[in-house]
Order: sequence, then C-alpha cells, then structure tokens
Amino acid sequence: MRKRLFIKTYGCQMNVYDSARMAELMAPLGYARAETPDDADLVVLNTCHIREKAAEKVFSELGGIRLLKRAKERQGERMLVAVAGCVAQAQGQEIIRRAPFVDMVFGPQTYHRLPELVARATREGGGVLDTSFPAEPKFDYLPETAAAGVTALLSIQEGCDKFCTFCVVPYTRGAEFSRPAAQVIAEAERIVAAGAREITLLGQNVNAYHGIAPERGEWGLGDLLRALAGVPGLERLRYTTSHPRDVDDGLIAAHHDVEQVMPFLHLPVQSGSDRILAAMNRSHTAGDYCRTVEKLRQARPDLALSSDFIVGYPGESDLDFRATLDLVAEIGFAQSFSFKYSPRPGTPAASEKQLPEAVKADRLTELQALLQRQQRGFNAAAIGATMPVLLEKPGRHDGQLVGRSPYLQPVHADAAPEMIGKIVQVHITAMTSNSLFGVVVGKRDEAAL
Ligand code: SAH
Ligand code: SF4
Ligand code: F3S
Repeated sequence: MRKRLFIKTYGCQMNVYDSARMAELMAPLGYARAETPDDADLVVLNTCHIREKAAEKVFSELGGIRLLKRAKERQGERMLVAVAGCVAQAQGQEIIRRAPFVDMVFGPQTYHRLPELVARATREGGGVLDTSFPAEPKFDYLPETAAAGVTALLSIQEGCDKFCTFCVVPYTRGAEFSRPAAQVIAEAERIVAAGAREITLLGQNVNAYHGIAPERGEWGLGDLLRALAGVPGLERLRYTTSHPRDVDDGLIAAHHDVEQVMPFLHLPVQSGSDRILAAMNRSHTAGDYCRTVEKLRQARPDLALSSDFIVGYPGESDLDFRATLDLVAEIGFAQSFSFKYSPRPGTPAASEKQLPEAVKADRLTELQALLQRQQRGFNAAAIGATMPVLLEKPGRHDGQLVGRSPYLQPVHADAAPEMIGKIVQVHITAMTSNSLFGVVVGKRDEAAL
C-alpha cells in the first residue's frame, strides 16, 4: 500500500543529506515523500540544536503535528511521528516527556535503523528512543543513493572532536569519522550517473577528512578532491564546512591544480579577537586565519570566502568586537553568517557570565551592516563580467532559469528549460544583495559572443 512520508528539515546541509537518505530508506516500504504533513502516515522532524531558537522551533512545530495526528486518529487512521536529528540526540528524554504523542526519537547516528524503528513503534504503540552511538558506521547500512538533482550533497565526514566551548555538535553528532575514499567515490559516480553535475562534499569538519585510501594509507581532502575530479561528467566540486586549523598544503594545492574545485570557500573564523578565540577553544588565532587565507589566495587568486561569526560570546569586550570588525575589513567576505551567542545546555561557555542581550544585538547589527556592504560590493564587482553558470532550476519568471556562479552567487538568466544541468557563459548586467542577473552569451567552452 502506498504511504505518505513528510520530512521537515532544520539546520545544516548534513541534515538535508540525512533527510534524503531517510526518504530513500523508506521508499522500498511504499512511502512516497509528501510536501505537507496533512494526511501523512509518517512525519519526521529532522532537527537542529545549534542555537536556542533552532531547538525551540521543534516544540512549536510539534504542537501542530499533534493536532494532525489526533484528526487522523478520529478517522481511525494512524500517523507515526518521529523526531530525528540533533535535538533528538541532545534532548531525547525531554521530547518524550514534553510531547508524549511522539512515537520515535532517534539521533543522527541511528537513522539507518528507521525501518526497524517504524516497525517497533507500530508494534509497541510508540515511545521508541534510540539515541545511541552505534559501533557500526551507518553509511554501511544505508541504501545506494537514488535520484539526484543538478547539484548534490555527499556526506564524507561526520562528527567533531574539537569541542569549541560554545558548540553542541561534538555531543549531538559524536566523534569524528571519515568514510572510506572508495565508498565516497562510488557514491559520487552513482550521483553523477543520476544526473548531478556538481557535488558538495559535507562534514561538520569536512577538511579534517582522513578516510582510508582505496589502496593503502589515508587520504586527506585534497587527495579526495583530486580523485573525484576524475569522475567523468562531474563538473564542479565544493565542500563545507571547513575548520581553519585543518587547511593543509594538500588542500591548498587542490585549489590551485584541480579545475573542478570551485573558487569559493566557507571558512568560519567566529571571532577576530585572539583572546576570544582562545576562550572558544578554536585553536587558531586571527593571524593564523589571515595567513591561511593568504596562502589559499596565492593558490587561487580569485578565491571568494565566506565565514560564520559569533558576537557576544561571554567576556567579549568592545575591543574584542572591534578586532572582529578589523578582521572582516582585512579579509573581505563574499557572503557570511553571523549569530548572537546562544548558550547551549551542557557546553562549557553556557556556565560563563553572559553579556546583556542589548549588547549582543547592537554588535550583531553593526557586524551585519559591514558584512552586507562587503557582499553587495562583491556582487557589484561582477557586473560587466562574463562567468560560467551551472543552470540548476526554473527561476522566478517564465522563461528564466537560475544557477550558480563559480563563487556560489545565484545567477538569473533567460534560458530554455532543457538548459538545466548545462554550464553556460552569462554576461552579468545587474545585481541585488543576494543575486546576479545576466544574459546567456554562449556555451561553457565557447568564447563569449
Ligand atoms: N563545524 C563548523 C560549524 C558548525 S555550526 C565550524 O567549525 O566552524 C555552524 C555555526 O553556528 C558555527 O560556525 C557558529 O558560528 C554557529 N554557532 C555554533 N554554536 C553557536 C552558539 N552556541 N551560539 C551562536 N552561534 C553558534
Ligand atoms: Fe562545533 Fe567547533 Fe566542532 Fe565546528 S569545530 S562543529 S564549531 S565544535
Ligand atoms: Fe544543527 Fe546538528 Fe547541523 S545541531 S547545524 S543539524 S550538526
């Protein structure tokens, strides 16, 4: 019998990848993915615990789901509700206590058991909790990836051993683990055969990748990128998220040598103050960060950078905050994410004395204004240039497609739907803070008309 599965995904791209894999796990059991939770037979909330707001969203969403579940029960039908992901891992017991109608709670390392958990929840009438960190790597138990869009995500590394003092990830995702290179290459080949032209390699610390090499020894991310560049039909490679400490010479060289590696790098710095970076246990200074960026730019002069920033970390003085603004001014970011520090239960920084909310808010506004100016400046500099754009999907208007520049900017241009999946040369004519607009002037390998 055909059943409906609704998955709502919060948080990072690793969760997006995990949600897609959960859907693939359930497909052989007759579950087709639904766009809304109404009438779904199985609802999965794949949650994020990174900041308080992210975690609280889950409980408000569950309020609505409870009503849907009750409505279905009144018709004599059943809706199974699962909470997965990082909130599940961190607060499994609390979810069951606060929302007893939830049938299953499981973490990021056990979702490969979803079919078994569904069977158990059906049999036992709910209350199934699985937040263990199993010895078996889940990747060995997941089905082969099925369909892919033009751009696809591929998890190659998971977890984190770095324990930055503000961060829940080491607790929710567990210890660092790298998938064997041969397994990654095989998955990439399948994704490309299914139509992907670009792959973004994922990991909480993706550049800490150290997977078993196909023959002997270990590969770093640089080696893996070189090998993946050999997959026929794979035109573009990206990776996220990187830690400044793990940018090694092999990775820098790959940015120079491997044409498929796109000139865009998300390299979170968090703060520009050495005092705060040390308190955060980041194990890099602002100077280390700048030197790493300089080496990367020597290897790839047009490299565009983005970063994550936290303002209002406990003990952050005005001077510390100025140091962050100085670093931003020195590097020049194409795009960035910035957040007010949010104390997370169980992390060391949460028990420190907290800064007033108003201070955090003012600093965030000031930082975001600077980052926004840099982003606009970066986009404005593209006007008049012609750049290769991988067309991904229909745009906002009829006859328009949207794709990405090498620097990850969304680019809108008029083009026929059959051009989706192709790389075309686009002459950029206009911009907003977030996007570029242009005219297709040729195929990828043709000179601009
Ligand atoms: N692995 C990545 C970051 C993953 S979390 C890295 O090492 O950089 C994504 C971003 O969320 C972080 O870069 C950080 O800027 C932000 N973040 C994490 N914990 C936070 C907290 N407690 N409060 C505010 N922002 C936080
Ligand atoms: Fe969190 Fe730090 Fe690990 Fe990134 S490196 S996931 S910020 S603990
Ligand atoms: Fe959130 Fe977990 Fe990703 S906490 S950012 S979903 S690793």
